[in-house]
Amino acid sequence: MATHIVLNQKGGVGKSTITMNLAAVKNDALASPTDDVPPVLAVSIDPQGSAVWWADRAEDLPFMVADAATEGEISRAVNIPGVRHVYVDTPGWIGDHPGSSENGLGGLLLSEALDVSDLVIIPIPPEPLAFQPTVRTIREVVEPRGLPFILVINNWDPRDGDVDLTQTQGFIREMGWGTNLANTVIRRYKVHTRAAAQGVVVTEYDANRASLQARQDFHKLTDEISERV
Ligand SMILES: Nc1ncnc2c1ncn2[C@@H]1O[C@H](COP(=O)(O)OP(=O)(O)OP(=O)(O)O)[C@@H](O)[C@H]1O
Ligand SMILES: [Mg+2]
Repeated sequence: MATHIVLNQKGGVGKSTITMNLAAVKNDALASPTDDVPPVLAVSIDPQGSAVWWADRAEDLPFMVADAATEGEISRAVNIPGVRHVYVDTPGWIGDHPGSSENGLGGLLLSEALDVSDLVIIPIPPEPLAFQPTVRTIREVVEPRGLPFILVINNWDPRDGDVDLTQTQGFIREMGWGTNLANTVIRRYKVHTRAAAQGVVVTEYDANRASLQARQDFHKLTDEISERV
């Protein structure tokens, strides 16, 4: 049983995309026809209600999905018998004390989710604007709890060349987080953006070249994460 929480203060960095696709790949690897319940659960703790992903596809995704928008629900969700891996999607936040009850329900839910997490997955796009929110996420939320974390560069477009990528990797190493940086870079593919809008996960993509490459990134990341929990 391992619980992963996907976290970054900054909005739009790929938290939901990464949550759903890691859940899909892991479920695909573990599911067996004799299971009573799917082995993987994805949980959203966004009290605002959820993006398209969660709302529309809950019934027919291959893995289980749940909303935990009230106190106590997260611990109930991760204790569902038969569930072996949990991926928690979180909203971005504004304010200085995330994960504390000072921040109302959002803070409380985040704190509960962190309490049950074994690994924090932190997506970061290869752009300087994302650096400071990522630093705050690690310094204010992750490090005080002593939680292991992995930084994943997401949404890199190889056609832009590797200047931004190298700069982002350099920044992470300068901060002393080189060993936390995933080797896998999740590339930007239009198929991910379209799929999110339709509530489709990587394991359901068509078998064309771009889709296979897009899927491969999530397979690599899943393997890398398995080595850490
Ligand atoms: N690797 C990628 N390739 C292409 N599009 C991507 C990729 N990662 C994320 N996106 C797109 O970027 C947008 C933001 O991603 P996502 O919703 O996963 O971010 P988020 O961190 O969950 O945002 P929020 O903080 O608002 O919840 C979405 O339209 C998504 O489809
Ligand atoms: Mg999201």
